[in-house]
Amino acid sequence: MNNMQNLIETTKQEFISALKKVNSLDELEAVRIAFLGRNGKIGALMDTLKKASPEEKKGMGSLLNELKEFAHHAYEELQQQLQGQKLKKELAKHSSFDVTAYKKHTSSGSLHLYTHLIEKLENIFISMGYQVATGPEVETEYYNFSALNIPENHPARELHDTFWLTLPDYLLRTHTSTVQIHMMEQKKPPLAIVAPGRCYRNEATDATHDFMFTQVECMLIDKNISIAHLLATAKTFLQELFDKKDLKIRVRPGYFPFVEPGLEIDASCPFCTNGCSACKKTTWIELLGSGLIHPNVLKCGGIDPAVYSGFAFGMGLERLAMINYGIHDIRLFHSNKIEFLTQFS
Ligand code: PHE
Repeated sequence: MNNMQNLIETTKQEFISALKKVNSLDELEAVRIAFLGRNGKIGALMDTLKKASPEEKKGMGSLLNELKEFAHHAYEELQQQLQGQKLKKELAKHSSFDVTAYKKHTSSGSLHLYTHLIEKLENIFISMGYQVATGPEVETEYYNFSALNIPENHPARELHDTFWLTLPDYLLRTHTSTVQIHMMEQKKPPLAIVAPGRCYRNEATDATHDFMFTQVECMLIDKNISIAHLLATAKTFLQELFDKKDLKIRVRPGYFPFVEPGLEIDASCPFCTNGCSACKKTTWIELLGSGLIHPNVLKCGGIDPAVYSGFAFGMGLERLAMINYGIHDIRLFHSNKIEFLTQFS
């Protein structure tokens, strides 16, 4: 046996014993690189052969090719075997999958109570043909007061504890009635809009008063709109909201400078017939401020009060939710207390 033949034979034995030790695809890959790779041992034999003397070379080319083929073949066979084993292991894992096994609870987020309520309200109004509208929370004195028939020095301004900004004439809106004017300016009647949104009042907070709260404003403007339309709409809306077809309403005079006449609308208590804590034993719940839109307000919105009339009503969303869910403190709404929030998910 010449030197070259010897080398080929020992490389083959080395390769065989290396393969025998292989237990994983990673180890197999290491063996492949060591022997069949670009700088592997079998490649190195090729280089040695090129430099060998002519009589040493004789017959060695085919011997070396045989080794190469043998190595490739053995490599592929073992690779398939190992891949098969790996797959079996994976499958075995799944075959013992226990669908009844306890899985640790993973917490997920949910919609805020505000969002739930606003969606519900909007859906009721959308089903009556209304459009959802919004307006800015930072307002001018004009939209919050003057255009709503509350001129400077009018005592009604005192009733709104206003957060004035350092910019002259700017404030945080104290009610969503501001959206009435924006909509009148932007669209032509007939106008049917519902505008939920945040409002701010600079007052001391307690369980029933907060500096930030949510109102929902409803407005309809068309020819010949009367109190009958206002009452029918308010009643239908409240019946849907509380899911009570026999809910009744009653009206009392109310004063809001932007409506004439102005009415307070109460609903018969949706939770009892003879007095409970929600209605403070009166069987009625105060819910809406409302009225027919004052001609001065229509004029400010660019609408001719000789041709058109309209109604508007507004209500506080937190108050509604507090009655509905027995929430005792208005400040909980934006407290970010997880114990509070998760109750409504
Ligand atoms: N904006 C009034 C308030 O904040 C409510 C209201 C709306 C009254 C529309 C009449 C008409 O109390």
